Amino acid sequence: MLSVKQARQDILPIHGSFAGKDVVSLDQFEARDLQKIFALVPEMRRIVEQSRPSDILAGRIVSLLFFEPSSRTFGSFATAVKRLGGQTLEVQNPEAVSSVNKGETFEDTIRVFEAYSNAIVLRHPQPGAARQAARVAQFVPVINAGDGNNEHPTQTILDLYTLYEKFGRLDNLNGLLAGDLLNSRTLHSLIRGLSLFPNNTVYLLSPEKLRLSREDYAVLQSRNIRMIEIFSEKDIPGDCHFWYWTRIQRERFASLEEYDQVVTKSFIVTPAMMERYANKDMILMDPLPRVGTIDPAVDSDERAVYLRSQIRNGLYARMALLALILGQA
Ligand code: CP
Repeated sequence: MLSVKQARQDILPIHGSFAGKDVVSLDQFEARDLQKIFALVPEMRRIVEQSRPSDILAGRIVSLLFFEPSSRTFGSFATAVKRLGGQTLEVQNPEAVSSVNKGETFEDTIRVFEAYSNAIVLRHPQPGAARQAARVAQFVPVINAGDGNNEHPTQTILDLYTLYEKFGRLDNLNGLLAGDLLNSRTLHSLIRGLSLFPNNTVYLLSPEKLRLSREDYAVLQSRNIRMIEIFSEKDIPGDCHFWYWTRIQRERFASLEEYDQVVTKSFIVTPAMMERYANKDMILMDPLPRVGTIDPAVDSDERAVYLRSQIRNGLYARMALLALILGQA
C-alpha cells in the first residue's frame, strides 16, 4: 500500500496542509483550514448532483471501522469515497464480526486495517480512541468519526459549512446550543470550531444534570468564545443566528432509570417555541438522530435545515476533506 503519513507520535496541526494528516480534533484546525475545505465543497456538490465520475480517490481504499452505530457519518463517508472513485473496506460493529470478537486488541485491529487501506475512519465509544488509533497507525491517516463523548470533528466541519452557507461568515454569530452538553461530542467540537472566529457567543441550554462538565467549561472558556449558561427556554435571546439541538445520549448513561429521570427535563423544539423565541432569519440545526429533540411539526418550517442542507453538506464536506487528505490534487 502507498503510505502517505510519516511515522510519528504526535497529532499534527493542519496548518494549511491536509495531505496524509490525521484528523482527530478541532484543536488541530485554524480558520484558514476550514476555509480550504469550504472552497472545495461547491465542486464536490457538482460531482454528486451531476453524477459526474471522479478519479480524485482512484486507487485509494478507505477503511470504515465503526464500533458504534451510525447512519449519517457512516453513510456519508462510504458515499464520499465512492463518489470520488475510491473504494471502502467497511466494518460495522467489529466486536461482533471481526477478530475483536476473539479478543484481538484495539491496537492490533488498527495495525491490521492500516495494512489494507490508505486511511481509517474510526468511530468508537471510548473518548480518546481516535487519538490512540492515530498514534498506532504509522502509515495511514486516521479520521475521527466520533469518539465517545469527546469530539466529532467532521460533524463540526459540516455544521460550520452549513452556517457559512447561510450567513456568509463564521464570525459575529450568536448561537443556542441545547440538549446534552455533557455528552454531546458534536457540541464539544462545535464550540472549538466557533472559537476559531472572532466575536462568537453561544448560549448553553441544558437540564442541570447535563451541563457542560466543569472541566470542559474551563477548557473551552479559555478559548476565543463567549459562553453563557441558561436553564430555561424563557432565557433564549431573540437574536440567535442559529439553534443547535442535541438529543440526550442514552448510551452514555449508567442505567435506563438515570436516563429516564433526565429525559423528562429535556427541552423539545415545537412550532410554538419557534414562534415565540426564534427570529425569522435564524436556522434550526440538529446533528441527528432526532430523538426527543424536535417536534416533526417543525420540519416544514423553512428555517429547519437538519433534514435538508445539514445532511447533504455532510457528504460534500467529507468528500472535500478526503480529497485534501488523500487526493491526487
Ligand atoms: N450526526 C451523526 O453523527 O449521526 P450518526 O450517528 O448517524 O452518524
